[in-house]
Amino acid sequence: VALIVAGEGAAPMARRIADATGWATTDAEFKTFPDGEAYARIPAAMDGQHVVIVQTGYPPERFWRLLLLLNAARENRAASVRAVVPYLAYARQDRLFQPGEALSSRLALECVRTQASGLVTVDPHKEDVARFFGPGFRSVSAEAPFADAFRTRRIDVVLAPDAGARPRAAAVAARLAAAVDHLEKKRLSGTEVEVAPKTLDVRGKRVAILDDIISTGGTMAKAVEQLVRQGAASVLCAGVHGLFLGDAADRLRRAGASELLASDSIETEHSRVSVAGVLASALLEAPAAQRTR
Ligand code: R5P
Repeated sequence: VALIVAGEGAAPMARRIADATGWATTDAEFKTFPDGEAYARIPAAMDGQHVVIVQTGYPPERFWRLLLLLNAARENRAASVRAVVPYLAYARQDRLFQPGEALSSRLALECVRTQASGLVTVDPHKEDVARFFGPGFRSVSAEAPFADAFRTRRIDVVLAPDAGARPRAAAVAARLAAAVDHLEKKRLSGTEVEVAPKTLDVRGKRVAILDDIISTGGTMAKAVEQLVRQGAASVLCAGVHGLFLGDAADRLRRAGASELLASDSIETEHSRVSVAGVLASALLEAPAAQRTR
């Protein structure tokens, strides 16, 4: 049995995880001092309790809220402290792409590691960031909930936006016996480039493009436009983590998307797939390590 603490904006997710685990939830308090410094407090008694902090990593300042809450649990004698970070921030910078860069992903996970014995997240941008946390890191897959959503929408083809994203699309497609392919750029002439499925013909098909992140929507908008032109019956844009920055949603709709779909790892109006169940299962499966300090 654990106590679930809802971080900033995390009350809905905390409640869904509580429903699936049968554990109690409690809220945290936040303040911002006049100079901009953040303050966090968990009013509930935590002495001897197994505490689970739920705090997603977007917007990015929530990552600092996460560290404060983990620390609040630790400093107030929780028996164990675990983090549920549905969208793991800073997972893109998982290596040095250029000399002189910060290795943000390692730093972020090492910071969490100083305060928590475990971290559960959903489909991090690169799975191998797990090595920066070590034992206690658990990433769960959103494949099953997305497969359910695609089944309801009678999707014929699941498309990955590129070859690298194909394994996720293939795993989801296999669950609903849909076809799978990935998009690639095809040069039509010296100046014209088309984005099209590598082998499949989408004419008359209900297509879903599935990416791990929809950020500005730029990657998908181009693909949607061309799939519509290629005769797709409908094109659903799905992202495990939907940031939908700026006018991303309008841009995708203008491009011809029939629906925008994301998980509740980041709560938006498009979060109609819940990863609470897979997060809850991971928490129930892996017992919390006792604190060592
Ligand atoms: C990139 O590496 C990710 O997998 C997504 O394809 C990317 O974040 C999407 O970004 P945007 O929506 O801005 O095109």
